[in-house]
Amino acid sequence: MTPKIQSVRGMNDILPDEAEFWDMFEETIRSWLKSYGYRPIRLPIVEPTPLFKRAIGEVTDIVEKEMYSFVDSLNGEALTLRPEGTAGCVRAVIQHSLLAQQPQRLYYLGQMFRHERPQKGRYRQFHQVGVEAFGFSGPDIDAEQILMGARLWDDLGLDGISLQLNTLGQPAERAQHRAELIAYFEQHRELLDEDGRRRLYSNPLRILDTKNPDLQQLIAAAPRLTDHLGAESLAHFEGVQQALRDAGQTFTINPRLVRGLDYYNLTVFEWVTDRLGAQGTVCAGGRYDGLLQQLGGRAAPACGFAMGVERLITLIREAGGETRAAAVDVYLVHQGTNASRLAARVAEGLRDRGIDVLFHCGGGSFKTQMKKADASGASFAVIIGDDEADAGEVTLKPLRTTGDRPNQQKRVGVDVVADEIMNSILDRDDS
Ligand code: HAM
Repeated sequence: MTPKIQSVRGMNDILPDEAEFWDMFEETIRSWLKSYGYRPIRLPIVEPTPLFKRAIGEVTDIVEKEMYSFVDSLNGEALTLRPEGTAGCVRAVIQHSLLAQQPQRLYYLGQMFRHERPQKGRYRQFHQVGVEAFGFSGPDIDAEQILMGARLWDDLGLDGISLQLNTLGQPAERAQHRAELIAYFEQHRELLDEDGRRRLYSNPLRILDTKNPDLQQLIAAAPRLTDHLGAESLAHFEGVQQALRDAGQTFTINPRLVRGLDYYNLTVFEWVTDRLGAQGTVCAGGRYDGLLQQLGGRAAPACGFAMGVERLITLIREAGGETRAAAVDVYLVHQGTNASRLAARVAEGLRDRGIDVLFHCGGGSFKTQMKKADASGASFAVIIGDDEADAGEVTLKPLRTTGDRPNQQKRVGVDVVADEIMNSILDRDDS
């Protein structure tokens, strides 16, 4: 037997039942984003490798070991499947001078790729909704973006998602802190693990983010960035907190929240749940004022976040969210040459009126077709045999009983079947 080909580990098919649910989720997302004035942008899945190295940082897990990078065999270009969306979005903003006239609020939605060890909530192909605002420097946009999250959890019927907040200050403040951290970790070098020693000079801040329980005590006593923050950074952070308090949003300040990407400054935040095991962050982001310039653009402030779609959908399902989209309105049953030709016309006529039709394909007796009609979940069967075709009529059979109304089929003219169905649908929706 020919061996079967399976999907790549950590890259999942989303089958129709699930995919319909994703469609509904995406609709909610789009209208939520529209209500805050965010506009869609569609970006390539493949970008030049140097984009991610420069944006995310050479000494990060993503760039060091998680990128799907390859050389285009046709022209030798170094390319990478995007591991996240911010870098590509900034590249596009610069490339198309989107900030020339006005600030921009943008969002994207799609696949990202990271070669991580797959487990619940962590995949090698996963989906993000990314939200980015360019050209706003005050803490109001940080707070707006954070509060957008709170509204979405509410719209999706999710609770138990809490907010963690921190500030990373400005590069100069971080440089000072970094020097102190290096000195501190140097003093305790023998306590560091291998990763820690490797990162000691290249990225000591990331040591603070380690999951290694043996290092927690050492980290707890490490010098704090907050002691190096200047008045402006402190005021920005206070501004964000004030806006959150004004909106009644609770949060925890977590000085250890440093994020796994290097482009951030000032505000960083994560929305976290304890219902997903180890992969509890459903949404994360912050400010990245230096990135535009770092990628060759004119300096402009920026702020954004991304949500893990798989994680959110798991949460919604676990909270008992609706999992099935509505079925079609009509299943079209037909038999006989003339009947089938008429049926094809009737189906198109119904669709012209906005009625969803599943046209039976593949022949078979009326009995088998009716079984399929029942199983389809459609509200009506429209049945056309030679008899009906000769009379220019169809048989309309309701498949779902509504209230105490009789569930009887009737013959109606081809030209009025759409009206009959529309009226029944309206009646049903009213009752
Ligand atoms: P991130 O924290 O790397 O940030 O990812 C954001 C979210 O994507 C995570 O909180 C998580 O929900 C989801 N996620 C990440 N990796 C995986 C995975 N392997 N499997 C499933 N879900 C995953 C960023 O990507 C930044 N670009 C966010 C941002 C936008 N910052 C500013 N603007």
